[in-house]
Amino acid sequence: MVGVLLLLLLLMPLSASATAQLCGADGNYTVNSTYQSNLAVLAATLPNNTSSSPQLFATATAGQAPDAVYALALCRGDFSNTTACRDCVVASFQHAQQSCPKHKGAIVYYDYDPTQQPGCLLGFSSDDGILSSASSLTGNDTLFQYWNQDGIPGDPGVVAAAVQGLLNGTVQYAAAATERRFTTAFMDSIGSTIPTLYSLAQCTPDLSAGDCTACLRRIVGMVNATTSVRVGGRIFVLRCNIRFEANLFYDGKSMQRILSPSSIAPAPAQMTGKSMYVCDEQFI
Ligand SMILES: *[C@@H]1O[C@H](CO)[C@@H](O)[C@H](O)[C@H]1NC(C)=O
Ligand SMILES: *[C@@H]1O[C@H](CO)[C@@H](O)[C@H](O)[C@H]1NC(C)=O
Ligand SMILES: *[C@@H]1O[C@H](CO)[C@@H](O)[C@H](O)[C@H]1NC(C)=O
Ligand SMILES: *[C@@H]1O[C@H](CO)[C@@H](O)[C@H](O)[C@H]1NC(C)=O
Ligand SMILES: *[C@@H]1O[C@H](CO)[C@@H](O)[C@H](O)[C@H]1NC(C)=O
Ligand SMILES: *[C@@H]1O[C@H](CO)[C@@H](O)[C@H](O)[C@H]1NC(C)=O
Ligand SMILES: *[C@@H]1O[C@H](CO)[C@@H](O)[C@H](O)[C@H]1NC(C)=O
Ligand SMILES: *[C@@H]1O[C@H](CO)[C@@H](O)[C@H](O)[C@H]1NC(C)=O
Repeated sequence: MVGVLLLLLLLMPLSASATAQLCGADGNYTVNSTYQSNLAVLAATLPNNTSSSPQLFATATAGQAPDAVYALALCRGDFSNTTACRDCVVASFQHAQQSCPKHKGAIVYYDYDPTQQPGCLLGFSSDDGILSSASSLTGNDTLFQYWNQDGIPGDPGVVAAAVQGLLNGTVQYAAAATERRFTTAFMDSIGSTIPTLYSLAQCTPDLSAGDCTACLRRIVGMVNATTSVRVGGRIFVLRCNIRFEANLFYDGKSMQRILSPSSIAPAPAQMTGKSMYVCDEQFI
């Protein structure tokens, strides 16, 4: 089970670049072993297979048990440069080898080049459970969290409701996105203190809409009274992740517009003058 993965969770301070890893608890391989060469096969081919996939996602197995290695990789859905997606997965393998030397398993989130391109996720293990979509639904052990230390000014209840509403809406759109299980979204500013908020949610595209919803709801459920008033945050598990920021942090136009909860603000159309539009396509 992936449940055995993970001993180390390194939380890095929030900055433009965020890279983190969970080292597997499934033991070490020995130098020049069959396991090491199987891992090398995956490191050589999985980056290309990920970047050449329309979903920017690939799974792979190399070798036979007990030396088999199971892996998956996912580039964030707004990668516009597939070469950079491939390079990100290559860098993730290198990062795993540096931060989890000789470990049979690791899960890595790697910000390839945050000024140019978004990041990617890589997981590999000696346990085939890592390829099971059920691994998204149990356990909290593949977790990366980053929170901006600054808060959004204003009534904490209103701010928290806005952030929760944004994340809830983003989850629904991501889970419903049939090809990539990925969406970007934004919510208009509210009053004088809550800025326009930008969000993103993504599942590995092998998840069903229901499993994606469950995975994302589980991590949105970890947003608490303290973190829901921060001016940005990210939560990652291997198979799904969410992020929100007060700056436009993704590539391209927002795919969705989320209306602020009616309980806390006038209808956005009245506030922004962009009347008529309701939640669908291409804004900004
Ligand atoms: C695996 O190797 C690393 C680096 O050499 C070492 O720190 C760690 O203790 C080893 N773990 C096990 C389970 O042997
Ligand atoms: C691993 O293989 C390389 C190349 O064959 C060799 O130079 C090295 O000594 C080997 N290392 C171990 C620990 O067996
Ligand atoms: C990359 O992967 C695609 C599809 O898996 C394959 O058609 C292509 O030949 C590969 N390119 C390289 C350089 O390996
Ligand atoms: C990459 O894709 C090629 C072509 O589809 C396939 O033969 C190969 O097994 C894949 N490798 C990995 C590591 O997924
Ligand atoms: C795509 O990314 C690669 C680096 O991974 C870079 O060399 C190349 O210039 C980028 N292409 C474009 C069109 O930005
Ligand atoms: C995961 O976290 C949630 C909320 O903190 C907790 O209720 C649940 O028991 C945890 N699940 C596992 C398997 O640890
Ligand atoms: C967000 O969704 C959860 C259930 O997934 C619900 O309990 C909560 O009331 C929703 N919050 C907002 C602000 O929409
Ligand atoms: C809220 O979540 C953060 C991040 O997981 C945690 O550090 C903090 O203790 C939690 N605060 C409360 C009040 O539960």
